[in-house]
Amino acid sequence: MKVLVVFYSMYGHVYRLAEAIAEGARTVAGTQVDMRRVPETLPEEALKKMGAVDAQKAFAHIPVCKIEELASADAILFGAPTRFGNMCGQMRQFLDAAIQLWVSGALVGKAGSVFTSSATQHGGQESTILSFHITLLHLGMVIIGLPYTFQGQMRIDEITGGSPYGASTIAGGQGERMPSENELAAARFQGKHVATIASKLTK
Ligand SMILES: Cc1cc2nc3c(=O)[nH]c(=O)nc-3n(C[C@H](O)[C@H](O)[C@H](O)COP(=O)(O)O)c2cc1C
Repeated sequence: MKVLVVFYSMYGHVYRLAEAIAEGARTVAGTQVDMRRVPETLPEEALKKMGAVDAQKAFAHIPVCKIEELASADAILFGAPTRFGNMCGQMRQFLDAAIQLWVSGALVGKAGSVFTSSATQHGGQESTILSFHITLLHLGMVIIGLPYTFQGQMRIDEITGGSPYGASTIAGGQGERMPSENELAAARFQGKHVATIASKLTK
């Protein structure tokens, strides 16, 4: 059973969640987990201005995803930072190249799940995940979220990401905050949950 974790990250927050998602998925027996990043679309100059060049070196070793790789996975977890309450353009552009997969129905019946990051606490994590789900539904995927059996999303003693829609983190206005232990636990839970359901779907 193959689980693919596909993400875009500019400063490393979504990448950190992606690692925890993969870690969770790997705990399910018989699961092969691969990580991929979607192609960068911004020119080097823009990335320099945005202060992203050094941060992106930390995950430069992760192979860039080819659109056909989505078809060979049994479950796909997508990670994208919030951009004005939606998925980032890099992920949008990547998915817009999936038209052949839509035509052939290659993703129909596969498990799909989403996680995200935003600068601010109410900056659009839920809208990013829910609007991402629309694309997954068009592709025929079976959407999986983060159930409340992950009790960490009930916490009010600390600021935390994570909702029934999926794991998330709050990066801070300057990207100064990295995922907390609770947010990483949510991501691990989601990875394991998706892999568990996907292994049932593939039987
Ligand atoms: C063009 C642009 C739009 C953004 N829009 C939002 C937004 O709507 N809400 C928010 O809280 N953060 C917003 N952010 C901040 C990003 O979500 C934040 O940098 C990201 O979550 C960090 O994750 P990463 O390090 O994995 O890229 C925006 C950033 C950029 C560059």
